Amino acid sequence: MSKRLVVGNWKLNGSLAANEALLGAIGPVAGVEVVVCVPFPYLAQAANAVATCSAHEAAAGIRLGAQSVSEYAAGAYTGEVSVAMLAEFGCRYVIVGHSERRALFGEDDATVGRKVQAVLQAGLTPIVCVGEALVEREAGQVMAVIGRQLDAVLALTGAEGLGRAVIAYEPVWAIGSGRAASTGEVGEVHAGIRRWLAAHGVPAGQRLLYGGSVKVDNAAALFALPDVDGGLIGGAALVAKDFVAICRAAVANGG
Ligand code: PGA
Repeated sequence: MSKRLVVGNWKLNGSLAANEALLGAIGPVAGVEVVVCVPFPYLAQAANAVATCSAHEAAAGIRLGAQSVSEYAAGAYTGEVSVAMLAEFGCRYVIVGHSERRALFGEDDATVGRKVQAVLQAGLTPIVCVGEALVEREAGQVMAVIGRQLDAVLALTGAEGLGRAVIAYEPVWAIGSGRAASTGEVGEVHAGIRRWLAAHGVPAGQRLLYGGSVKVDNAAALFALPDVDGGLIGGAALVAKDFVAICRAAVANGG
């Protein structure tokens, strides 16, 4: 099995001073790939901090990611940031299709597919977020929604391309709500996603993350599930001791 992956999604939070404190207090955790996805203007600061960490712990430095990216490579797209720019700052990962991007910034399934394709073509790894809203869960639509979201990506990337992405299951109702999905709910959906991937010819072994109110006290149980390969962490990633404890919980469960 590949290494466990724990990704901190800082969202629209941070300042030079706050980041310095946070980056100084988290470090590599043996057996886990630790990634921080910082706001664009702080990539250079984080790249520096990460380089310092790597010098101390040769093989296992913290890795850097971004929270979104343009689907375009260059040109007259005011306000956009390209994958090549992210790569120049050492980003390895890009979160694509987070539910906040979908709900608040109008990113539809097709846009998400094009962004995933752009990230893959540049040799970075997309973290593709999928997940249902509460009304969709209550209507028994969980796998229909996720299948639709994944289909839009698969149509552009093909099975081999999708296989190079990380997939994060993030039920919209669990994000920032303090109410994580139960281990039963996560186990069922992750198994469903694995079946969907296999049925669509995506090579086995893909990393599936769970995200949505992962905290110190529920991380171990979530990471112990057989189809959960790590987590996408929002609020708790801003508190150094909590983020480190969550990363350690990933090791304790098979990393
Ligand atoms: P949360 O956010 O951990 O604060 O629920 C997770 C996410 O949005 O990626």
